[in-house]
Amino acid sequence: MTTDLPESVPPPTGADESSSEPSRRTFIGTSTAVGGAVLASGLIGGTLLTDPEEAAAASTTPSTRVSLTVNGTRRTVTVDNRTSLLDLLREHLRLTGAKKGCNAGACGACTVLVDGRRVNACLTLAVRLEGAEVTTIEGLADGDRLHPLQQAFIDQDAFQCGYCTPGQIVSGVGCIQEGHTGSPEEIREWMSGNICRCGCYVKIVRAVEQTARRK
Ligand code: FES
Ligand code: FES
Repeated sequence: MTTDLPESVPPPTGADESSSEPSRRTFIGTSTAVGGAVLASGLIGGTLLTDPEEAAAASTTPSTRVSLTVNGTRRTVTVDNRTSLLDLLREHLRLTGAKKGCNAGACGACTVLVDGRRVNACLTLAVRLEGAEVTTIEGLADGDRLHPLQQAFIDQDAFQCGYCTPGQIVSGVGCIQEGHTGSPEEIREWMSGNICRCGCYVKIVRAVEQTARRK
């Protein structure tokens, strides 16, 4: 018995690089070349910059060396000029106590003290803090001994999920240092930049009151 074979059997795809059909290898080579050209012409942050000068400028974002004291330790970091204090703390120094809630100055989750004053770290440019003293939630306790306001938050059960708590406590410390603790209404007013989505406000005010009284 004989089997009829076709006169010419086409080679498997990619087996013959001289074939006029695109092979797998030529496809990869072409893709790589196109990708390189795109990068060379400046695909920055998802935007294709066709002007080579514009692309070069975007790829060399200005950075600055900044020295500041964080929780008593001198730190020197080189950062992109657009870096916020919050990102400096969280991304560069791995101090993740200050939280990124809104990243727009609306919630207070990122509150830290700069030279003793409360600031929203998400709205503060790191490069403007040369020589500053920064205190974060990580810097409040004295070794194993909690700061009195940290203890008061536990005593008063002043949190649920805890996401806002570092910002609330640092803000509370600032509020007490500023002397805005004459009444629950005054505390509420001066802590109003700190939002608690769990609605623990009554207990937060009690914790600040308790600490202020003991001082
Ligand atoms: Fe800074 Fe909300 S994260 S105010
Ligand atoms: Fe949950 Fe304040 S304890 S947001």
